[in-house]
This record gives sequence, C-alpha cells and structure tokens, in this order.
Amino acid sequence: MKKRFSDASTLLEDYSGPLILVDGDETSYVSNIEDPKNHWLYYAFKGFKVLKNHYSLDINHFVTIATGPGIDAIGAMEILNPERITVTDLVPSAIDRARENISRYQLQGKKIPINYLVGNLCEPLGTDKADIIYANIPNIPIETRKRNRLMEGITAASFFDPNTVRAVPQCLNKHLLALQYTFLKQAKKNITPQGMIIINLGVRFPLKIVKTLFDLAGYKYEILHFGFKKQTEPQDTIPGYARYEKDGIIFTYYPYKQAVQTLSGKTIQKVDELMKLLKPLEITSTKAQKLSLKGEEVGHIVTVLGAKPKSH
Ligand SMILES: C[S@@+](CC[C@H](N)C(=O)[O-])C[C@H]1O[C@@H](n2cnc3c(N)ncnc32)[C@H](O)[C@@H]1O
Repeated sequence: MKKRFSDASTLLEDYSGPLILVDGDETSYVSNIEDPKNHWLYYAFKGFKVLKNHYSLDINHFVTIATGPGIDAIGAMEILNPERITVTDLVPSAIDRARENISRYQLQGKKIPINYLVGNLCEPLGTDKADIIYANIPNIPIETRKRNRLMEGITAASFFDPNTVRAVPQCLNKHLLALQYTFLKQAKKNITPQGMIIINLGVRFPLKIVKTLFDLAGYKYEILHFGFKKQTEPQDTIPGYARYEKDGIIFTYYPYKQAVQTLSGKTIQKVDELMKLLKPLEITSTKAQKLSLKGEEVGHIVTVLGAKPKSH
C-alpha cells in the first residue's frame, strides 16, 4: 500500500515547531489534513485551547477514546501538556498507526509516557482514571449485512455495531446518539472528581437534543467551541443518516459553498446564532444525499462539548 505523509501541524493554529508528519495512507483518516478547517481535529484543538485558557485544570492523565491515527494525542501534548496519555481504538491497526505517528512526533516533541490500548469505548481503561477523556466516535449503526466489514478500512470511523449498545433511551436512539450515550455512561467511572469529558459532536438536529443527551447520561455540559465543516466520507455517512430519517426525525445538512458564503466575514459568538444564519439553507440528509450524488459538497455544524458528571 502506498505511504504518504501529511503535516498535522496545520491543525494546530499558532504552532511554530517542527513538522508533525503523520502517516496518511487511505486507511488512516488523514486525507483532509491539507484542508484543516474541514477536519474534526481543527475544532477539537480549538476546544482544547478554550479548556487550557479558561479552566485552571491540572492535567495529569489525558485519554483519547477512538484515536484513529493518534493526532489527537499529539495535539493534547502540544496544547494541554498532560503528564501521561492513554490512547485507545476499537481497531488494532489504528492503534499500530497511532503508535507510529506518536513515536515519530516524540523523536522531536514531548516525551511523556503513552499507553496504547485496543477495545470498545472506555472498556480497555478498566478502573484507570483520567482528568480529560476526549472522544470522537461514530453515530451510525452499521447495517447487519455489512457488520463483518466493520474493522476494514475506515468503516469504524463512521459506523458502530448496534449490538454493543444497551438500554439507550428511545429519543437518543432515534437521533443516532446511542454510542455517545453509552460512552458517557461508561466514562463516569474513569473520570477524576475534577475531570472533564470532551466530545466532538456533529449537530445535525435541534440543540435541545444535545441537552437531552447530557441530561439523560447525568452530566452538565458546555459548548467549548463550534463551527461549520464539510461532511467528510460523504459517500458512506450521508446515506447512513438518510436511512434513519423517518417519523419526523431529520438530520440537517447545508449546501457547503452557499453556507461558506453566508458565513463569510461574520463573527459568530454562539452556536444558535450560527444555526439561525444557516437556517434558510437547511436541507435534510435525504436531499443532501441527492446533491452529493451529483457531486455537490454539503456541510454540517460541529461542536466541541465539555461535560462533567452531575454527581461529582
Ligand atoms: C472519526 S475517527 C476519530 C479520529 C480522531 N480521534 C479524531 O478525533 O479525529 C473515529 C475512530 O473511532 C474508532 N472507533 C469506532 N468505534 C469505536 C468504539 N466503539 N470504541 C473505540 N474506538 C472506536 C475508529 O476505529 C476510528 O479510528
């Protein structure tokens, strides 16, 4: 398989250190690093900066659940300066890649201990506790006929096995938040009393559903950062959302170019303002699928959410 390296430092604004070269073959989720503002981690790192600048958090242990190529751990070292990091992923080959990328960074970067674990959500952590647990996990249940392909390529970045989630409230299930809910419930036992969960969440539904997610999982939350990004892997993801558009449930997209034009030059302080500005351009994922088939790009709102268990 052809290997190619991308510079992940483009995802870290105001970074002036050496290049952060990450392996970028087609199974390693780094395809759009050259277009950083459309990469999830651009937003996650902005959220990490808000955390660093507005909270006096002493971060000993940082965990990333579902690390993919490990760039989130590198960003955490650069921005949050933890004393140790644990990276996990469901897919063993993702962890191999993360280990390569992080080790390459550590030749010149920060040399803190890194623990590499394979497994579902927080399960591999056992009873270990962390000050920050970051996660960017998939939302769409994989179709039964494709279940045996979950660990191939980058399928696990967009889809999860519905057999791994249990007792999810119906309103969250309908909005495809079952894996997020399961993660939040699990993470409670792994977070230190002063600690925080950070999730990167595409918001394709009304904001009140986000509140319901955290309420039902037993957390208080805030929006650390938000923005508008292009839908990556559109050929897999958009039909995935469109399949679940029924009984009045809609997953909202926006035509990418028009949305970027609408937002150009505007300073937006709150995610509801962003939603209001984009409201006239809203389309369903069923419509987005049609546009995407014609080669048009679509985008969605992205949020970086910080949450603490209510019982702490
Ligand atoms: C979208 S990538 C996220 C990559 C990176 N952490 C980021 O924030 O951009 C999703 C990753 O989630 C992993 N993943 C999917 N389901 C998971 C699960 N149940 N537990 C752990 N990792 C999972 C996939 O293998 C993939 O590497």
